[in-house]
Amino acid sequence: MKKLFAGILSVMLVLALSGCESGENTPDNSQSSQSSETQSEAAGPTSSSDDEAAADSTPNETPNETPTDGGKTLVVVYSASGNTKAIADYIVSATGADLFEITPTEPYTSDDLNWTDPDSRVSREYDDESLRDVELTATTVENWEDYDTVFIGYPIWWGIAAWPTSSFVKANDFSDKTVIPFCTSSTSGLGSSGTLLAEEAGTGNWLEGQRFQSREDESTVKEWVDSLGL
Ligand SMILES: Cc1cc2nc3c(=O)[nH]c(=O)nc-3n(C[C@H](O)[C@H](O)[C@H](O)COP(=O)(O)O)c2cc1C
Repeated sequence: MKKLFAGILSVMLVLALSGCESGENTPDNSQSSQSSETQSEAAGPTSSSDDEAAADSTPNETPNETPTDGGKTLVVVYSASGNTKAIADYIVSATGADLFEITPTEPYTSDDLNWTDPDSRVSREYDDESLRDVELTATTVENWEDYDTVFIGYPIWWGIAAWPTSSFVKANDFSDKTVIPFCTSSTSGLGSSGTLLAEEAGTGNWLEGQRFQSREDESTVKEWVDSLGL
């Protein structure tokens, strides 16, 4: 009799326990199905804010945007007879930079540039440094503050940067800008032309720069630009 009673009790206990288990599972299941519905509903209307949140928090997205959203590049050039301007155009093609041409109010004619004539304009300016303060049509670049890299190009005159370049450099603030000089010449090297311009500017992080032949291949210029890793 005792055994029968114990048997009935065990059966009741097992039934009670299995009932409890199924009762516990139900809310969990319903919760999980509710939450998955909530997620799938949420995916539609809130997807744009989710994307924004993902863009805000995804570390890869910020660096990818930096080059296009970051500082811009400007090519400033003085060219009396077109050689340095051609290099400037190659740099613009290679970088997508903007271009600013330094233009003397009184442009140099070919007679002015005749350095073999001791009475020519350049010869007189070379002899008398006080005459080298050449007036320019403009020294102000629109949105100057947006540029953080500035190429500055010029022909070599008697071993240094053609002086209209100095007029531009002295008139501008290169603080927080990387400045990259480039020049053309018949035979002379860059020499101290870049260093002298840096001194005249008094501001900016001036790199050593590059000299090109008067007529240079575009591929050579592009190779140099690529080597800068901008
Ligand atoms: C007044 C003057 C001075 C020059 N002095 C030098 C010089 O010292 N060394 C040199 O190699 N070339 C010299 N040149 C040659 C120019 O640097 C070269 O032709 C340059 O490519 C001209 O550039 P541009 O066409 O942009 O003006 C001089 C040219 C001129 C007009």
